[in-house]
Amino acid sequence: MRGPIYAATFAAVLFGAPVTASNYGNHGHNKPDSQRMASSIIARGQGIMTGLGGSSEALQAGFVQKAFTALSEYYHKSGEPYAQYVRESATSATEFLANASNNALSYPMDRLSNGNAALALSHGKGHDSYRATADALRESIDLNRRNPEGGLWYFVYPYWSYLDGMYSLGPFYSLYTFATTRIGSHSRVKALDDLLYQFETLWEHCHHHSTGLLTHGYDFRKTAVWADPETGASPYVWGRSLGWYTMALVDTLEILEKENAPHKYRKAFLEKFQTLMPAVVKAVDKCTGGWWQVIDQPRREGNYIESSGTAMFAYSLLKGSRLGYLPHKFTPAAKKVAIRAQKYLTKHFVVEEADGTVGYNGTVSVCSLNSTASYDYYIHQPILYNSVLGSAAYILASLEVERLGH
Ligand SMILES: *[C@@H]1O[C@H](CO)[C@@H](O)[C@H](O)[C@H]1NC(C)=O
Ligand SMILES: *[C@@H]1O[C@H](CO)[C@@H](O)[C@H](O)[C@H]1NC(C)=O
Ligand SMILES: *[C@@H]1O[C@H](CO)[C@@H](O)[C@H](O)[C@H]1NC(C)=O
Repeated sequence: MRGPIYAATFAAVLFGAPVTASNYGNHGHNKPDSQRMASSIIARGQGIMTGLGGSSEALQAGFVQKAFTALSEYYHKSGEPYAQYVRESATSATEFLANASNNALSYPMDRLSNGNAALALSHGKGHDSYRATADALRESIDLNRRNPEGGLWYFVYPYWSYLDGMYSLGPFYSLYTFATTRIGSHSRVKALDDLLYQFETLWEHCHHHSTGLLTHGYDFRKTAVWADPETGASPYVWGRSLGWYTMALVDTLEILEKENAPHKYRKAFLEKFQTLMPAVVKAVDKCTGGWWQVIDQPRREGNYIESSGTAMFAYSLLKGSRLGYLPHKFTPAAKKVAIRAQKYLTKHFVVEEADGTVGYNGTVSVCSLNSTASYDYYIHQPILYNSVLGSAAYILASLEVERLGH
């Protein structure tokens, strides 16, 4: 609660108007945190592709679609506009993402986050553009460049793979596969093997033995300035990048379980999730309850608690607890840490605006491996106000807290 609310309160004192929910318009103080942030994202018109939003535009749209889909599934009775907004965002994406080869050439792997809504909307008549987009996104996985071991490049940088792409790849690749292939068919097995392989190869290259966490990515050729001579891995554990990966594990696992996928896939994803999440909890900052921008450099000068990664871990932990994916003994502690993190985010990064909307602060802009990937690089990337990469993650984390009745 910073600047703008003081102004609003001050005005109310001056003019004698009581400060009540109605002063804040229909974005409503009485609404749950997730819904207030969602209304504010709608009011800001975010998550709609225009072609002018830079290389993360497709991810912003896809991530908003996913967060709003989760909201509309949980709050479906309250007449809220979330499903409509998912449709609007997905429609905007059909204009840009319906060409498979262009998808593979012009957008990072994050583009695939648009596939879930496109697929869901493609059933029924008159929805050909959604179907075409879902198909073009799926085909773009086959056209995406790979290293000689089959690891998908994240984007145009030769032979570099990042954790980041997994959030967009995992859930869409599995959903599409279950929707379009038969049980036990060669195409299903091939796709699921490839999906699992992408998570495993990143794990093998990027797993950081001392912390149990994964670093940002790796260079297959080990020639990048930052590449470890043995593994090719980049040196630091970047919060948001690991956050994409943990969300990818839990969301993909949910689909594999729902579809009753062969045991070997479910087991592999479950093992990764159960191995990784205790290390994530161990890395939380005990003082604030949030996670650092550079997770493996706690308290180092210039490091700070970052608001997108923190929300992503809170979501992953709470959803993993809810679905029973965490070790039983570990679950109560994991929930406690995650709830505390969401409260911290609400207190320190949610900003009351004078028009009744809420803003979201403290989200680092894109961190690329097309850089020195040094500690200095990560801590000096700009910090953004109202990046949906933070606020949509906050919606997902808050929704999980609300599902617990908190
Ligand atoms: C699809 O994208 C490719 C690569 O950008 C381009 O060469 C091709 O003309 C596009 N196809 C259509 C039908 O627009
Ligand atoms: C966002 O956080 C920065 C750093 O703490 C602060 O300077 C800025 O005023 C905040 N923005 C808003 C709108 O609260
Ligand atoms: C990679 O970084 C270099 C040097 O900063 C820059 O010139 C180039 O445009 C970047 N490449 C991409 C694809 O962003």
